[in-house]
Amino acid sequence: MLKLEVNIPDRKYPIYIDKGIINRIGEEIRKIYNNKKIAIITDSNVEKLYGPQIENNLKKADFLTKKIIIEPGEKSKSFIVLQSVCDELLKFGLNRGDLVIAFGGGVVGDLGGFAASIILRGIPYIQIPTTLLSQIDSSIGGKVAINTIHGKNLIGSFYQPLAVFIDPDLLKSLDDKFLYDGMAEVIKYGAIRDEKLFYNLLKYESKEELFENIEEVIYKSCSIKKDIVEKDEKDKGERMLLNFGHTIGHGIEKYFKYERYTHGEAVAIGMAVITERSEELGITEKGTFNLLKNAINKYNLPHRMPPVNKNELINAIGLDKKNIGKDMHIILIEKIGKSFVKKIKIDDIEKYINI
Ligand SMILES: NC(=O)c1ccc[n+]([C@@H]2O[C@H](COP(=O)([O-])OP(=O)(O)OC[C@H]3O[C@@H](n4cnc5c(N)ncnc54)[C@H](O)[C@@H]3O)[C@@H](O)[C@H]2O)c1
Repeated sequence: MLKLEVNIPDRKYPIYIDKGIINRIGEEIRKIYNNKKIAIITDSNVEKLYGPQIENNLKKADFLTKKIIIEPGEKSKSFIVLQSVCDELLKFGLNRGDLVIAFGGGVVGDLGGFAASIILRGIPYIQIPTTLLSQIDSSIGGKVAINTIHGKNLIGSFYQPLAVFIDPDLLKSLDDKFLYDGMAEVIKYGAIRDEKLFYNLLKYESKEELFENIEEVIYKSCSIKKDIVEKDEKDKGERMLLNFGHTIGHGIEKYFKYERYTHGEAVAIGMAVITERSEELGITEKGTFNLLKNAINKYNLPHRMPPVNKNELINAIGLDKKNIGKDMHIILIEKIGKSFVKKIKIDDIEKYINI
């Protein structure tokens, strides 16, 4: 079993990575939680695949469980679903020492974590992420949120879990679309921080070979996120590096009304577009764009900017909540494995996008 520990001011929690860990999840949770009640928040896809397995295992360890099952998909990160989840948690009679488990992808993690952060002014929760994206990204760092009509993730908290349990075996049932979606973030980690991880991604010959190495890929990715979050929990400095490809990516997602591209696809385009341009501007080492493009294409992700109306795209980017006032931050890479934050005027963003 691989283990990491996230150390942030006044909180410390473990991340366990182990194939098959959900088959002994009851005994693992017993080691860190002594009360009886556990509410498991999950979605109906994960429930069908693994729901009984996890619940039986928790019961074997003498926990009293209640499952709260939401519809799969982004639409569930809403006030209405949050309200019904909170209702169910309160009906179960949880008190402040009891536990919530968010068992699912990023949607369940964000919604479940947010519910845990507000119920009774906050009760402990554990993340058991089941998609690649949630295993390497959303379950770590404590950002939990729901969406509103004004945009994604605009209502939320920073609320760190008690622990994160990652079972890479769960990824075997994941649709390829979601697997590659998560790979965009892995490529990002390699590009911003870890040359070796990046070149390994280029080396793997097949999905099978990726899966043979998946524990290490997850471990490396989580280590990078953990290191960055430890230095900047509240997203004011170094954590911005994690937004490599995301400013343009979010713009693309929004421009196409979240219908044409998955998050990972949009981020892949964002990373490629900005790196192609920064290479032209002499900021990035020559050849970096090609390497990035190869990695992106290898994992079935797009790298080209689709035809768009430039002004509308820039509007979509400018409206992104991460841009405060008239300045904005973009993330550039000097070369594979080395990145930095650059502050620019919103009007200058055009310089960094080839449309
Ligand atoms: N909090 C953060 O720091 C953070 C970071 C990145 C992304 N996010 C959020 O994460 C969300 C996206 O997460 P996601 O990509 O995991 O999507 P998701 O939670 O919608 O899961 C994708 C699909 O996979 C299914 N699924 C989940 N686990 C499975 C498994 N093991 N086998 C088969 N199917 C499975 C789900 O039912 C769903 O249909 C977005 O809402 C995004 O905003 C949050």
